Amino acid sequence: MEITPSKKLKRYWRVAVIANIKDESQPKPEGVPSDAFADFDHIETIHHIQNAIESDGHETKFLMADRSLPQTVQEYNPDICFNIAEGLGGDAREAQVPALLEMLEIPYTGSRVLTNAISLDKTLTKRIWRDRRLPVAPFQEFLTGDEPLRPELNFPLFVKPAREGTGMGVDSNAIVKKEGELRERIKWIINSYQQPALVETFLSGREFTVGLMGHADAKLYSRHPEWYDEKDGFHRFPILELDARRSITPRVYGQAAKSKDVGAQGAPDYICPADIDPELEKKLKHFASRAHILLNALDTSRTDIRLDDEGNPRLLEINTLPGLTPDYSDLCLQAKAEGIGYNDLILEILYLGAGRWRLLEPREYIAAPRK
Ligand SMILES: Nc1ncnc2c1ncn2[C@@H]1O[C@H](COP(=O)(O)OP(=O)(O)O)[C@@H](O)[C@H]1O
Ligand SMILES: [Mg+2]
Repeated sequence: MEITPSKKLKRYWRVAVIANIKDESQPKPEGVPSDAFADFDHIETIHHIQNAIESDGHETKFLMADRSLPQTVQEYNPDICFNIAEGLGGDAREAQVPALLEMLEIPYTGSRVLTNAISLDKTLTKRIWRDRRLPVAPFQEFLTGDEPLRPELNFPLFVKPAREGTGMGVDSNAIVKKEGELRERIKWIINSYQQPALVETFLSGREFTVGLMGHADAKLYSRHPEWYDEKDGFHRFPILELDARRSITPRVYGQAAKSKDVGAQGAPDYICPADIDPELEKKLKHFASRAHILLNALDTSRTDIRLDDEGNPRLLEINTLPGLTPDYSDLCLQAKAEGIGYNDLILEILYLGAGRWRLLEPREYIAAPRK
């Protein structure tokens, strides 16, 4: 569906694609963990995003999300930014680019400062969800590693960095069976990743990730209004099951497994749509929407959920900047499984954001021949 030019507003925008890029030619700085920067993007992904946005007539420019950004973004003077930046350092790096763009009053796609700050922090996120009765496994945050273990945490337990992503700091040794292993792993996380360790009950069941996009007014700005729910304006993608049993980090969807191409030796099995009964599907989609709403997430997110020993869903975390590498990132696999092409996925995220920032008139779209 084509969006027709508005009388008042610009039809074609200058779009800055903002990201942090992996630079594999450079050695890692001393003292950082071997999987540091695993969540940064490859430049090819940026090119795919630029091509998708340009396919609808817009102009794009890639801007690196480093200390040059305050200057480069003002020089380029975009109408809107497509933000996928993970940020650099500190306790809320995924909120850095949104914070800068808010200060400069430049529109951007996706969640805003507070949401990206909190969703990076898995402990804070779970405290919010637990307060509103969303199901999470028992958990405890360790700042020093010497704190007494709370009685509700029974072995086996799972230890991970409180504020990372892309499976960083997570491998099969994250599952600990006794006190000594627990303490050792917590201290390793705190020392290597310079942040608190989050300890949770080990969830032994199946793992799913549940992606969605949209907002209450999605139909007014989308190129595909028919995709969005009449009531809440969300589009829920088919659920993806991650079966890591045969991966190089058995039972755990860790960094090493995530870095493998789909179908490669050592990669987990990706099953989409997941083979689950309609009742569980409904529950997972409901929890993911609630998880998104409770954090005030915007435009798109992906919530990771695992089943406990009894088969009850437990929310692990929400990704408010889900990876967007074609044929690789979970969200792209989910979209593809229902026939949504990559360009359409990227353009939806752009138009959902643009609508919120009033870069186009509501209901401006009408079917029109492509130029
Ligand atoms: N409590 C847990 N029990 C079992 N496995 C877990 C638990 N927490 C995380 N995992 C495993 O570790 C992976 C990464 O954890 P997650 O919380 O999703 O962090 P991220 O994806 O940001 O690195 C999950 O996909 C899952 O396989
Ligand atoms: Mg995850």
